[in-house]
Amino acid sequence: MSTDVESRPADASGTFALGGDLPVNRLGYGAMRLTGAGVWGDPRDPDEAVRVLRRAVELGVTFIDTADSYGPFVSEQLIRTALHPYADDLVIATKGGLTRSGPGEWRPLGRPEYLRQQTELSLRHLGVDRIDLYQLHRIDPQVPLTDQLGELALLREEGKIRHIGVSQVSVAQLKEARELAPIVSVQNLYNLANRADEELLEYAEAENIAFIPWFPIATGELARPGGPLDAIAAEHGATPAQLALAWLLRRSPVLLPIPGTSTVAHVEENIAAAGITLSDSEFETLSGAA
Ligand SMILES: NC(=O)c1ccc[n+]([C@@H]2O[C@H](COP(=O)([O-])OP(=O)(O)OC[C@H]3O[C@@H](n4cnc5c(N)ncnc54)[C@H](OP(=O)(O)O)[C@@H]3O)[C@@H](O)[C@H]2O)c1
Repeated sequence: MSTDVESRPADASGTFALGGDLPVNRLGYGAMRLTGAGVWGDPRDPDEAVRVLRRAVELGVTFIDTADSYGPFVSEQLIRTALHPYADDLVIATKGGLTRSGPGEWRPLGRPEYLRQQTELSLRHLGVDRIDLYQLHRIDPQVPLTDQLGELALLREEGKIRHIGVSQVSVAQLKEARELAPIVSVQNLYNLANRADEELLEYAEAENIAFIPWFPIATGELARPGGPLDAIAAEHGATPAQLALAWLLRRSPVLLPIPGTSTVAHVEENIAAAGITLSDSEFETLSGAA
């Protein structure tokens, strides 16, 4: 008979309480890769996408990241198809503020009426009365930040959003955002090989703000044979992707990695990384390896 840790490996990643009141297992799942090429349209194999989502939750994932713009709407609708009615402990974070005009095309739009419309659409597509975590996908430089976050703060007061987050911001922008609305999370590019946002991570850690590092295994680049982690991974009987994730979990208690994948095999491999505990010297070696 399997133990809980074996059947729900994500539990071993520890928990973080978003906004102090919404606990999630730290190792989550990013649902951007469930769409067609260029994050546009339907996936080639929608049944596998549903299986990936269900398997992630079976393995103990309680935090799923998506966005209205993934598809657009395809990722949110797949989450609903696969998982609704949602488990009580499942937290779904979505985002709004990027428009789509074709594969690989993304443009910010932060006008309040657009953010309101997108929130309403996400509520409908996810099939929820309130969004657990709504992230401003990008700050729109053409619109005053006070208008963008002011609208999200209003939606929060109206009960349509529980918590607000921001994405791809500087420390200065995060500080400015916090003056306009309560911000519980920041989602920026961060992985073992790209640590340009160390200062932001340190600020988030000091303020107990969740830091959701996107691109945690860098499109498999960190995991490729002969890549920076290959040799060390072989020594530890783990895969390079697992080491990249274990390193993030060890780096800071506010990091909530959301590896994305379109396959059940990779979701199983990635979530198993929660069970890897790196020693101090392994952590240092990895920190210097990439
Ligand atoms: N806020 C933002 O602006 C922003 C931007 C980008 C992404 N995100 C979020 O962050 C999440 C993760 O980012 P991401 O998907 O770009 O990067 P990622 O999770 O680092 O990489 C995903 C890629 O790595 C491959 N992969 C996954 N597991 C693997 C494994 N065990 N071994 C080898 N290859 C593996 C996947 O291919 P397979 O499908 O073949 O497994 C996919 O191509 C997204 O799902 C999304 O929720 C946010």
